[in-house]
Amino acid sequence: MWEAMPTKRNIATLKGDGVTFIGPMAGEMAEKGEAGVGRMAEALQIAEAVEHLLDDAPKPLKGKTAIVTSGPTHEPIDPVRYIANRSSGQQGHAIAAALAKLGAEVTLVSGPVTIPDPAGVTTIHVERAEEMRDAVLGNLPSDIAVFVAAVADWRVVSSSEQKIKKQPGDAPPALQLTENPDILKTVGHHEKRPRLVIGFAAETQNVEDNGRAKLQRKGADMIVANDVSPETGIMGGARNQVKIISSKGVDAWPDMSKTEVAERLAALIAERLT
Ligand code: CTP
Repeated sequence: MWEAMPTKRNIATLKGDGVTFIGPMAGEMAEKGEAGVGRMAEALQIAEAVEHLLDDAPKPLKGKTAIVTSGPTHEPIDPVRYIANRSSGQQGHAIAAALAKLGAEVTLVSGPVTIPDPAGVTTIHVERAEEMRDAVLGNLPSDIAVFVAAVADWRVVSSSEQKIKKQPGDAPPALQLTENPDILKTVGHHEKRPRLVIGFAAETQNVEDNGRAKLQRKGADMIVANDVSPETGIMGGARNQVKIISSKGVDAWPDMSKTEVAERLAALIAERLT
């Protein structure tokens, strides 16, 4: 139905009249076995979009563009297996939404996650680190770049085109790994480097020292460092406790929700750019 010319014409007329559309989304339909474009947006997405439309808060980032990476990357071993990590995308998605709320035009480059795309943001879905790098570089220049994704450090040199089968008596396959591109470092030293480049540092020890080293090595203006040891529950959880590391020193923020971290960081970005 959505592909039919009369529908397309009617939609264009309504959009021209200033009507905002939320969806349609792609995915499974109410009819069993049917899938494609035409699915109603999730309730949360509708609520966020309405909130966005009614929002008349100050927009200090109006006219600014931002790129945010979020979620894990999946590095294929064969068509059915991959290397991944525990990132849920909650922090990155919340930052993209918070920047959009302050008026920035945001492109979110997201690895595979199960949370919905934030409203008011253009989301590009990728799987592998190399795809994430290409999407980020393809969206330069930008005023702001925030690298929240937990990019897999390594990928399998040549992933198998067919499912790797067990052979009775054979040793398990050895995976030969190679390093993935460092997206933050590439952008931090790029000729089209955004004015503000912010990275995260996921650490399980020496959070501040490792964060400071990443600030230098990756050419970032700011590193948001957090302790992702399993007992903190930060990776995959709803809360975060971060330290903001920059040339100005270290600012330790108290434990708060990932949404609050995102809002505070977006406010700090606006302060730095104005
Ligand atoms: N990052 C990136 N590309 C990579 C690896 C990391 O863009 N290939 C970014 C992350 O998005 C984050 C920052 O670099 O903003 C630090 O990521 P982190 O995983 O903490 O550090 P690594 O560089 O991977 O170093 P290590 O794993 O040795 O701590």
